[in-house]
Amino acid sequence: MFNITVNTLITGCQLIELTECHSTNAFLMALCKEKNLHEGTILITPNQTDGKGQRGNIWDAQENKNLTLSLLYKPKFLQATAQFDLNIAISLAVFDTLQSFLPAKSVKIKWPNDMLVNFSGSIKKVSGILIENTLKGNFIENSIVGIGINVNQLDFQFPHASSIAEVIQKTIDLNIVLNTLCENLEKRYLALMNNHIAKLKIEYLNNLLGFNQELNYIKNGESTKGVIVDISSNGQLIMEHDDEVVFYNFKEISLDYDGPQ
Ligand code: BTN
Repeated sequence: MFNITVNTLITGCQLIELTECHSTNAFLMALCKEKNLHEGTILITPNQTDGKGQRGNIWDAQENKNLTLSLLYKPKFLQATAQFDLNIAISLAVFDTLQSFLPAKSVKIKWPNDMLVNFSGSIKKVSGILIENTLKGNFIENSIVGIGINVNQLDFQFPHASSIAEVIQKTIDLNIVLNTLCENLEKRYLALMNNHIAKLKIEYLNNLLGFNQELNYIKNGESTKGVIVDISSNGQLIMEHDDEVVFYNFKEISLDYDGPQ
């Protein structure tokens, strides 16, 4: 069903397609322990049955309608303390991909790596990323980059989810989305490898929902307003509430999808 036609050096150098797979991240992780896989290997399935999301959540995707894949990178040039830099590069690649199919300026990154689309006045999630790194000493050895993009699915269990097709009212060829994604991943990964992280970070911030803009969040079950002012080198969200600056770890604060934006 899938094939990679774009000319990349690393990304997608090998494509493994399984007709069904519980979780492409879990499968690729296990395969990595058994075999010496090439950097850039992609494992993809049109039917992921038990997809993993961030922090033990599940990733739900209907059969044959979406992209669910995992990619192996070996960013041995990245220190363990710079793991968030890879997150920035991957987020931008997925962002670029969505931008090329969705209306101009409708896509935003939600920290740390969700992709949202502004659709009929509300904000919906169209893609999620789960990066699982293994370390060797102070450096990253293997990185399993799991990407789920909602492409042609039209009904969702999660109320704040949507897909490219729901927004543009047109079905898209999954293989075209896959090839666009591979090109963008390659471009962003090579930029990271060539030490252009400062430029990548500026782009990430400029496309981040709530950067330099006051929005509503939920913190400890209560509604609060805040402005994102920066991201720390280890990926913490730096937010200003009135005149107080607060650093947040993942899940310590969440966007209030239903609050006034
Ligand atoms: C999230 O938003 O919580 C992250 C979702 C990541 C989903 C993808 S789908 C392909 C890959 N395999 C998995 O089991 N999860 C990731």
